[in-house]
Amino acid sequence: MTKSDIFIGGGALALIALGAGCSQETTAQPAGEQTSSTASAFERYVDDQGNISLPQNITTDWAHMGSWAVAKDGGVEGIHNVYAPKGDIEYFNVNGDFADGAIIVKEVRAARGAAHTTGDAHWAEDIQVWFIMVKDAEGRFADNPLWGDGWGWALYEGKDPTKQVATDYKKDCLGCHIPAKDTDWTYVYGYPALGADVAQYAPQDQAAASAAAAAMTTMAAEASGDAMAGEEVFARCASCHSLTPDQHSIGPSLAGVAGRKAGSAEGYNYSPAMAGSDVAWSAETLDAHLADVPGFIPGNRMATFFPAGVQDPEERANVVAYLMEAGQ
Ligand code: HEC
Ligand code: HEC
Repeated sequence: MTKSDIFIGGGALALIALGAGCSQETTAQPAGEQTSSTASAFERYVDDQGNISLPQNITTDWAHMGSWAVAKDGGVEGIHNVYAPKGDIEYFNVNGDFADGAIIVKEVRAARGAAHTTGDAHWAEDIQVWFIMVKDAEGRFADNPLWGDGWGWALYEGKDPTKQVATDYKKDCLGCHIPAKDTDWTYVYGYPALGADVAQYAPQDQAAASAAAAAMTTMAAEASGDAMAGEEVFARCASCHSLTPDQHSIGPSLAGVAGRKAGSAEGYNYSPAMAGSDVAWSAETLDAHLADVPGFIPGNRMATFFPAGVQDPEERANVVAYLMEAGQ
């Protein structure tokens, strides 16, 4: 993708691009929505401290970039709809990159399925969370832990849309976006609205890729002891869980998890389900939780973020062994 040179001149360039692209319909839009100019986007959704607010007009005024259906057990577990202001999408179509100030929102909805005249069709239910990214080509908020790597990062939960809950994008977000690093940390190939060119970034051979990943994990498991292999599996947990006492992020710190009652780490705001559960964490209960995240403690919030858990029994045993040691 082309990089920051296109940002020189910022807003003016975005306006020219729009004028050339689609004069007709955009003139009817409110000015702030159609331009991707730095000033308008930052004024609307970002305050001078770098706090990102949850846009209120997403589904009515913005354009739908694309959707993800997240599969589980042969069904659809969740539907992720991704939106951006029309001007930001048009800018990308002309320039092949997101404009400074561009904003992308992903809403995560639970899905339900039933037999329909089309087949086993799933539909989206209530919003669980909104993930937000705001393009920052100038490194504006160097001291704010929610800004970096060219973006501002934010997270709102459906149960309280007034409260931004992410604390540190490096812990809460970045780990999971590493596969999309080369496309400016965004999974662009999932968004048909961005034009035909983005398809080239799609994972090429899925079967080969997952076989390679499986082989790597098996090798790791064979080459080393359980807990050591478990440390590698724990990399999947680390975007949400630290092993440093009291250092909570999306999930609670797992320091001292072995033996403690579920939902009892000081200073972390648990779901009522986890806080009220009488499970105590042992090798057995950890295994059961990771095998069936939505089911073992129904209503717990990890089911929103990481419903898949760890399905491979060997990987699960390894990460549990690691937690029983490292998480003491
Ligand atoms: C569990 C892994 C994971 C975590 C944690 C995560 N993301 Fe993502 N994110 C993804 C994946 C994978 C996609 C695209 C596919 C999907 O939605 O299933 C995505 C898509 C997005 C999108 C839509 C644009 C894009 O990049 O494709 C936004 C916006 C986003 N994430 C923001 C965030 C923010 C902000 C955080 C932290 C508060 C975060 N994400 C944390 C994995 C993650
Ligand atoms: C994308 C975020 C995310 C990922 C990845 C994730 N978790 Fe969680 N986890 C959470 C959240 C959020 C909670 C809090 C649940 C609640 O309050 O209902 C949680 C809670 C837990 C708890 C309960 C802790 C306590 O204090 O009672 C354990 C144990 C746990 N996770 C283990 C893991 C393990 C092991 C992995 C990796 C295999 C993992 N999690 C991956 C988000 C995540």
